Amino acid sequence: MTKGIFISLEGPDGAGKTTVLNKLLPALEKRHSAGVVTTREPGGVMIAEAIREVILDVNNTAMDSKTELLLYIAARRQHLVERVLPNLESGKLVLVDRFIDSSVAYQGAGRGLSSEDIKWLNTYATDGLEPDLTLLLDIESELGLSRIAQNSDREVNRLDLEKIDMHQRVRQGYLELAQENPERIKIIDASNDIETVVSEALKAIEAVLKPSKDA
Ligand code: TMP
Repeated sequence: MTKGIFISLEGPDGAGKTTVLNKLLPALEKRHSAGVVTTREPGGVMIAEAIREVILDVNNTAMDSKTELLLYIAARRQHLVERVLPNLESGKLVLVDRFIDSSVAYQGAGRGLSSEDIKWLNTYATDGLEPDLTLLLDIESELGLSRIAQNSDREVNRLDLEKIDMHQRVRQGYLELAQENPERIKIIDASNDIETVVSEALKAIEAVLKPSKDA
């Protein structure tokens, strides 16, 4: 059993996860005295960042969908062992930008791989660890993609270059996951202004922080 709090941030490309995460950090640091760690998938540690470069390289157009899935899961395992678990063990709040739901939405709904296979492979890689809370920043695919096009600071990766229907399937995949896991996954409308999105995210996080404070 871990002592900290594990929260994942999910959503289609262009939902604004990184901006939300950066805005949440100071507020969370005030609320969780044991400390807050923000990190991302794929990546977050050296080996996983190296895998990220291979997966997202725009030149790797020959990559097979199952290869892609296995690389994401390999990066996830390394990141979990090196970064997530040690911080949870020391009681921290770990806020991760993407986790298993990304595999189900992108490689499952998006690429058409079996969601059953994706789930058991992920369970194997994570020893069954699930987030205490998942914030799903939901956005229409057209709006998400237009935000990416307008943001010149953001890296453009191999998955961003996929056609709109792939992005629409990913969004639907996320919404189905939220329906299947209503306790864990909270949907936040990411088309709202950033202050509204951050305040809704904080409200959902406070609900999981309170029981741990009282414990
Ligand atoms: P990012 O842009 O949020 O850093 O994520 C990089 C891309 O990787 C994004 O298009 C989503 C994709 N992705 C998957 O397809 N499967 C996964 O398991 C993860 C973690 C990310």
